[in-house]
Amino acid sequence: MGGRDRDGSISFSTRTSRVMWSRTGLMADGVTHVSEKAKEDEKVEDGMWEETFKSHTDSKPNGPSSISLDFSLPGVENVYGIPEHADSLKLKATDGGDPYRLFNLDVFQYEVFNPMALYGAIPVMLSHSAQRTMGIFWLNAAETWVDISSNTAGKTVFGQMLDYVQGSSETPQTDVRWISESGIIDVFIMLGPTPTDVFSQYASLTGTQAFPPLSALAYHQCRWNYNDQEDVAAVDQGFDDHDIPYDFIWLDIEHTDGKRYFTWDPHKFPQPKDMLQGLLDKRRKMVTIVDPHIKVDSSYKIHNEIRSKGFYVKSKDGGDYEGWCWPGNSGYPDFTNPEMRAWWASMFAYDQYEGSMENMYTWNDMNEPSVFNGPEVTMHKDALHGNWENRDLHNLYGFYVQRATAEGLIERSGGVERPFVLARAFFAGSQRYGAVWTGDNAAEWDHLKISIPMCLSLGLVGVSFCGADVGGFFKSPSTELLVRWYQTGAYQPFFRAHAHLDTPRREPWLFGPENTALIREAVRQRYALLPYWYQLFYHAHHSGQPVMRPLWVEYPQDTATFSMDDQFLLGRDLLVHPVTEEGARGVTAYLPGKGEVWFDVHTFQKHNGAQNLYIPVTISSIPVFQRGGSIIPRKARVRRSSSCMEHDPYTLFVALSPKRFAQGELYIDDGHTFNFDKQKQFIHRRFSFANNALSSRNLAPGSQFTTFSWIEKIVILGASKPSKATLKTPDGKESLLEFEFDTSMSVLTLRKPGVNAGLDWTVVLQ
Ligand code: GLC
Repeated sequence: MGGRDRDGSISFSTRTSRVMWSRTGLMADGVTHVSEKAKEDEKVEDGMWEETFKSHTDSKPNGPSSISLDFSLPGVENVYGIPEHADSLKLKATDGGDPYRLFNLDVFQYEVFNPMALYGAIPVMLSHSAQRTMGIFWLNAAETWVDISSNTAGKTVFGQMLDYVQGSSETPQTDVRWISESGIIDVFIMLGPTPTDVFSQYASLTGTQAFPPLSALAYHQCRWNYNDQEDVAAVDQGFDDHDIPYDFIWLDIEHTDGKRYFTWDPHKFPQPKDMLQGLLDKRRKMVTIVDPHIKVDSSYKIHNEIRSKGFYVKSKDGGDYEGWCWPGNSGYPDFTNPEMRAWWASMFAYDQYEGSMENMYTWNDMNEPSVFNGPEVTMHKDALHGNWENRDLHNLYGFYVQRATAEGLIERSGGVERPFVLARAFFAGSQRYGAVWTGDNAAEWDHLKISIPMCLSLGLVGVSFCGADVGGFFKSPSTELLVRWYQTGAYQPFFRAHAHLDTPRREPWLFGPENTALIREAVRQRYALLPYWYQLFYHAHHSGQPVMRPLWVEYPQDTATFSMDDQFLLGRDLLVHPVTEEGARGVTAYLPGKGEVWFDVHTFQKHNGAQNLYIPVTISSIPVFQRGGSIIPRKARVRRSSSCMEHDPYTLFVALSPKRFAQGELYIDDGHTFNFDKQKQFIHRRFSFANNALSSRNLAPGSQFTTFSWIEKIVILGASKPSKATLKTPDGKESLLEFEFDTSMSVLTLRKPGVNAGLDWTVVLQ
């Protein structure tokens, strides 16, 4: 790897000239040439000391600046990461167009397959080849552009001509140019060499995924807006009437008193605690939105306090910076100020946020920050956060908003409860504070498709807790699209339906009994799999490994997996191939791993690895496979909400490898406190199947945590028929288990082992 300084003669000015000079720079091998055209642009450039964009002026008090560094990655053909972009997982060469832009923006109706900036920015890129995985972390929160040039993949005709003229060799190489508007060069190179190494190296720099409350991994019902308390009660009841589980109902901006966050509309939500208690009685929860723009209104306590404490971001002239957002004229608290954050956090105390209760959590939207009348709908770059210009730290604003909120939720519980906070804008490290979603997508098939690479890209750079609005935010989905979206969303980390204010209602039971049944089944599949999701998040929290993974993370030498956008792994053991084409009758899934086998989780049919497999599909489900060699715990009895299932028994799905071996885990804790960490209160078991015996062994010897849950059933895929199955426990007791054997699919089902899920046991097949 080599780095070289860019020709410093050209600075940031207008976007057109930026693209121009980055491209001209890449034309040469090692030397930066400036084309005649670019020189001309530079001469006529009048934005260097003051720049105008539409009606806005950037005063650039410190004059023009930019920093840049080029990286050459010999042997590399594949680069990934640098979210957030609505683009393919494998990043494209940008020599033919705009670079990837990292600048947190509230984008109206974003386009897919596009390098344009979106709500969040994580300046981390992974490179991968069959030999090695590496990472580049460009720690800079100013507006950043990333240009990618490859001598192989995505080659333009021009590039091929250049190769011909220069007689370049066959060795693949990718060159990456990072350009930021301000700041210093502060780069971390994560040397791998495996994907796992890169994930833990990056986690050591920015932290790991916050371990969410278990319920946050269940299903969330949102729309802009649930109108009033009666509406909330009716939707809540609708789920019970249609036997569909859900954990969280969400309230958008209309629930407030005139978009004054931390308040309630007195007519529509006169008794918020009654409403929350009603949900609590059913062991359900609520999220209310708290955006970081504050209505400038002298009768609003929050505004008055922020103003009097001097906590607002300032404009270049030193007065409070003001802009338009949902409430009209608004101030923007300076979340980069630790005192401001501490004050904000204290506003979530139960006696401050009136009407709040312990089953109420928070959603921070518009934290790019969104300024409707600002340049590109965001804050002026010369606005001031203390001595820092917004220009210098723009992409960090949303990070600090989510951080302050998460800290508030922790504090209100006296440090006991794990918070759950969703944010739209993010930066490197945001994973420590909660979940993110992909913003205002649309009810279109392409948006369903792009949700896969968008969440995969985030997972690669630390943010595992990602989801897309199920159904699409803008427009109305066809019934088929809605059903397919539920089926896909059920297998993505953050699973929330959401819709724009102007769209017709779309609660799951509004599309006829058949579609209600399909959506119910998709949601129930999610609930059944919650033990596995929880375990994956425990690992993401513990060691920084992504929950939703590209196949190449587990099959790093299999070049067939390097550019897949249509399927993914959950952990190592589940492969999901969503159906994202209208009217699809089949999909072609790639099952990786020469010598491995995969079991269809719906039919239990076994397929060999390292093949493209055509799978006929109906509308009833999407293809999901369990890796032979794995053991996955599920809960078969789906109830009203995840906490209603807390003490329910487990079913273990043991998928045997061709060598008749399998391994898996089970992680259990109280589901919502920090006791797993502070007091090591959890159960962590290792299940192993070898030599015809399945055993459960303790991985958390010091823990005193106990569970009521027991092992209800064991399903062994790829088994042969035993003559007897004996359960052995450490007290020396032995009992024979009843079993059934399905010869056509080689599935052995052991009935009611009945042992406690926290104890040691062995089942021997003879
Ligand atoms: C933004 C959010 C969207 C929300 C709306 C109203 O558009 O992205 O999810 O519903 O604001 O708050």
